[in-house]
Amino acid sequence: MKHILQELEARRERARAGGGEARIEAQHKRGKLTARERLNLLLDQNSFEEFDMFVQHRNTDFGADKNIIPGDGVVTGWGTINGRMVYVYAKDFTVFGGSLSETHAQKICKIQDMAMQNGAPVIGLLDAGGARIQEGVASLAGYGEVFKRNVLASGVVPQVSVIMGPCAGGDVYSPAMTDFIFMVRDTSYMFITGPEVVKTVTQEDVTPEDLGGARVHTAKSAVADGAYDNDVVAIEEIRRLYDFLPLNNREKPPHWPTTDDPQRAEMSLDTLVPENPNKPYDMKELILKVADESDFFEIGEAFARNMITGFGRLEGSTVGFVANQPMVLAGVLDSDASRKAARFVRFCDCFNIPIVTFVDVPGFLPGVAQEHGGIIKHGAKLLFAFTEATCPKVTVITRKAYGGAYDVMASKHMRADVNYAWPSAQIAVMGAKGAVEIIFRNERGNADAIAERTREYEDRFLNPFVAASRGYIDDVIRPHSTRWRIARSLRMLRNKQVPHIWKKHDNIPL
Ligand code: HXC
Repeated sequence: MKHILQELEARRERARAGGGEARIEAQHKRGKLTARERLNLLLDQNSFEEFDMFVQHRNTDFGADKNIIPGDGVVTGWGTINGRMVYVYAKDFTVFGGSLSETHAQKICKIQDMAMQNGAPVIGLLDAGGARIQEGVASLAGYGEVFKRNVLASGVVPQVSVIMGPCAGGDVYSPAMTDFIFMVRDTSYMFITGPEVVKTVTQEDVTPEDLGGARVHTAKSAVADGAYDNDVVAIEEIRRLYDFLPLNNREKPPHWPTTDDPQRAEMSLDTLVPENPNKPYDMKELILKVADESDFFEIGEAFARNMITGFGRLEGSTVGFVANQPMVLAGVLDSDASRKAARFVRFCDCFNIPIVTFVDVPGFLPGVAQEHGGIIKHGAKLLFAFTEATCPKVTVITRKAYGGAYDVMASKHMRADVNYAWPSAQIAVMGAKGAVEIIFRNERGNADAIAERTREYEDRFLNPFVAASRGYIDDVIRPHSTRWRIARSLRMLRNKQVPHIWKKHDNIPL
């Protein structure tokens, strides 16, 4: 027996050694942790149960049979984060560059299947060069199986990808189908094909950073939802995010004890909106003052900053915040902001996370670039997402809600449950200046008349009471009571159920 136990330990040691000392050292020299070190940080102490550490590839081409490393380049299993179950896989770059073979894929598929069946999220830590080139179509088939499960799991359990090294091919396509992607600055890249292939095909000279670094993907392409300075910070932040996420689509959002009084009044909110309607203010201040303990996990911070999306809590339970940001482009809705918010709204709805929407929007951004860029379709995404969402929805208009953007931003007409406005709200087709110029075009030369008309328009429309008189706004509330009013509404909506008209699925404008 002793001999067998020693054999077992020796085999485990062999698997834990991955690609060997030299490659582990190279990994560390690049400022990266190994797959196992990452999992150690991600999961609660002693909670990791590893599967398939003895799995090895079956390829014999190109001398592959002479190079077999147990575990085959990916560490898989399950554990807990702050006591809540999670399935994990971590690509081991020290083993064949973390590339995916047929058996490597089977390991990932196993935990994806378990996650769907047993109702817990999947977190993938990626640091890998895509399909194992020596395996040909077997590895492509392996990716196909992983992709298929990414799609089947979508909306069943949350899926999170963390890009922690140079990721190519299938190692970016699988993450692309998960709910959130995070990157590590300076050490992680995402591309379909790397700079060398780009040079050959398009003759473009580009560095990995400029092709697919964290800056590009968080601020430009919006492929990634956030980036962190190193592996340790990234993993700490993923643990923080995890505390906001429901385990699956049948569970309520998690609840954490809080000492923050839901009735906490924030008197400073009464003066948040400036007298001058064209003066910006920071909508994040409102979110931070409303959320429990000012704890806010922002999603997509560097992209379309005129829209804020992220998770917070009220009375200890997760809510998704969606808010126009008057500090950036006056909070206007453009294509990027619409896409960003639509995706976030859909995530919240998949997992029954209530959505709290703060509105201060001067309308859709006009212009050739926006029209040619498809703002009609992109804006429709947000309209569609808010409308199809059946999770509890509470909306607060703080200032402007103009034109189509009023409708889009979780208005009553888009099936929001409770719609509040602050006394400073202005709900109208457009601002006074633009409106008067159109309606009273024939008085254009007469400055006094125009001033009078503008005042008339402002008195009549630039307030919340016309909308409130029609029941589109349920109540006009004092800003300092916003936290409590939302919390009470969400209590009231706790058991919300919406009957569905049968359909296979909808056809959101993609
Ligand atoms: C087999 C691979 C590999 C791969 C890397 N390695 N990628 N082995 N298959 N795809 C191995 C290397 O041979 C090397 O082995 C070790 O991993 C480290 O790789 P390096 O190149 O030394 O590291 P680095 O310079 O950091 O470059 C990392 C990299 C580069 C950018 C990922 O290795 C690279 O470009 N790899 C190929 C990427 C690619 O084209 N993949 C196929 C995509 S197609 P040793 O023994 O020297 O340590 C795909 C199909 C699915 O994925 C697509 C679905 C849409």
